Amino acid sequence: LATHSPTKMRYVKGLAEYPGLTSIPSAYTYTTTATDHATSDPEECSIPIIDFSLLVSGTPHQRSKIIHDLGKACQDWGFFMVINHGLQESMMKAMLEVCKSFFDLTEEEKQEFEGKHVLDPIRCGTSFNTSVEQVFFWRDFLKVFIHPEFHSPNKPAEFSKISLEYCKKTREVASELLEGISESLGLEACYINKAMNLETGFQILAANLYPPCPQPDHAMGMPPHSDHGLLTVLSQNGIDGLQIQHKGKWIKVNAIPNSFLVNTGDHLEILSNGKYKSVLHRAVVNNNATRISLAIGHGPSLDTIVSPAPELVNIKNHPPAYLGMKYREYVELQQSGQLDGKSCLDRVR
Ligand code: SIN
Ligand code: FE2
Repeated sequence: LATHSPTKMRYVKGLAEYPGLTSIPSAYTYTTTATDHATSDPEECSIPIIDFSLLVSGTPHQRSKIIHDLGKACQDWGFFMVINHGLQESMMKAMLEVCKSFFDLTEEEKQEFEGKHVLDPIRCGTSFNTSVEQVFFWRDFLKVFIHPEFHSPNKPAEFSKISLEYCKKTREVASELLEGISESLGLEACYINKAMNLETGFQILAANLYPPCPQPDHAMGMPPHSDHGLLTVLSQNGIDGLQIQHKGKWIKVNAIPNSFLVNTGDHLEILSNGKYKSVLHRAVVNNNATRISLAIGHGPSLDTIVSPAPELVNIKNHPPAYLGMKYREYVELQQSGQLDGKSCLDRVR
């Protein structure tokens, strides 16, 4: 270590582990304003909770109540917690553990997976380059395309088997939720499935590592953004950090252990012609615990051109509010870092 300096570390993990680090390098300084502070007022933080078991095996009455609640959650929050989703705790732990092992690889080993283009199917990284990013974020990541074609880094050895199984389960959960959401929009249960070509839908795993940060109030794990897909299914290692924007305020998400944190994405907003808004969210950091989150994005097939559902368009009262764009181009644009902090949705409005 004697030959290193904190700024020579490529990843935040190595930087955070640098002996005696008491302040962050200036490139990581993220300036916040008063309106940026999150509330923890329990009244304002009453995030909707969806009992998944009632959606798939409840009585018809329970199912229609859940569908109503899902619709309300999508419309009022763009965010909800899913409990009783059927994934075993041991599987969730194994998935978090294998992602942690990936981040524990040496910087040289990780370099092999860095990728060059945003559409490379395996890409790990962090904030690398000041000419592209004005501020560096306190986060390392690994992004892997899972579906329709499965990819996996070949290290750690168990990564492939565990991620395949875990992501298959979350895809099933997302698909059931999208059936309920279709119905909540007054459409057939299979509507979104069919219209978005989910058979060959795009599923991407983003594993995020947020090491302890010596100055958490002056850094940001992930800046405010919305997700490009339809639904993102997120789990974490018991450490909170996700915040969502609700009625103009930032709300801290206090996750129910082992629940899924689900948010609506840009393509659900487009498909619903703006009825369900894609929620803005961000990830903050803390100074004592490493946080790992697994965000699994579920979107249309990359070749689908998504426009508002004709059933939800009414030329007089609800004219189409978004232009059609091929999902592959949308993802590329959103991931390109060329939007200068603006929403990708602005490009199709
Ligand atoms: C994300 O928005 O993709 C991740 C947020 C988090 O780490 O909670
Ligand atoms: Fe996100």
